[in-house]
Amino acid sequence: MLGTLRKDNTGYDLKHLFIGSEGSLGIVTKVSILTPPKLSSVNVAFLACTDYLSCQKLLLEARRKLGEVLSAFEFLDEQAMDLALNHLEGVRNPLPPALHKFYVLIETTGSDEHSDREKLEAFLVHSMEEGLISDGVVAQDIQQASSVWNIREGIPEALMKAGAVYKYDLSIPVEKIYDLVEEMRNKLGHLARVVGYGHLGDGNLHLNISCPQYDDAVLAQIEPFVYEWTSKHHGSISAEHGLGLMKADKIFYSKSPAAVQLMASVKNLLDPNHVLNPYKVLPQSLSSP
Ligand code: LAC
Ligand code: ZN
Repeated sequence: MLGTLRKDNTGYDLKHLFIGSEGSLGIVTKVSILTPPKLSSVNVAFLACTDYLSCQKLLLEARRKLGEVLSAFEFLDEQAMDLALNHLEGVRNPLPPALHKFYVLIETTGSDEHSDREKLEAFLVHSMEEGLISDGVVAQDIQQASSVWNIREGIPEALMKAGAVYKYDLSIPVEKIYDLVEEMRNKLGHLARVVGYGHLGDGNLHLNISCPQYDDAVLAQIEPFVYEWTSKHHGSISAEHGLGLMKADKIFYSKSPAAVQLMASVKNLLDPNHVLNPYKVLPQSLSSP
């Protein structure tokens, strides 16, 4: 539609059909982008929490105290931190050695350096007093900020280097997120390392299961358990990465048959010969013309 208007309520907003369609409905040939001004004041804090409940309370507190400037709330567990420290060059824990079960990265982005910094500091003092965080650092410059981001963003690479990995990208109500990680850990015991990290502010868990090599016995413990668990807790089996080929037939764990049928009708309408990114997104049974 190539519209540049902020508001346009004339009929269906068709571009939304293409967002998340993974190339199965059309090909992008032209784009118009709204470019908001880049905000100058960015702060990053890297914090430690002793339990998952504290991470949750910290998120609520961050929403209350940092609301309008909160631009990232990411978390990783100690297993994810260990992997990053063991497999990535130049990554080190900015906090003094101690047993921390969880780490949280908070980023604020705003327009007033002074007041944004004050806000973040007030939030940190309050969280410390409430016992929500056991330790923490605020990055003093851009290098320090990017080095803590590198820990969080390096985890997928660390997992690749550690061996075989089964990856799940799930949306789950925040209060339930870590229950799944722990249940998975109990189920697998010594068979594999279960790692939890992700975009806690979005309710998005990256559940990754690491083992020396791919092993059907491990996979049989994970699936369909992980999908059934997510579905039972009203989560989504694909939060941000899409269904692709591997998860196309898993769509029913997150969408009703009526919704999937409607998606198939849209697909048939826009791509009647099913030539666009075939076999992706929708299950096999609905994937042929
Ligand atoms: C991440 C990618 C895996 O958050 O989505 O690191
Ligand atoms: Zn992610």
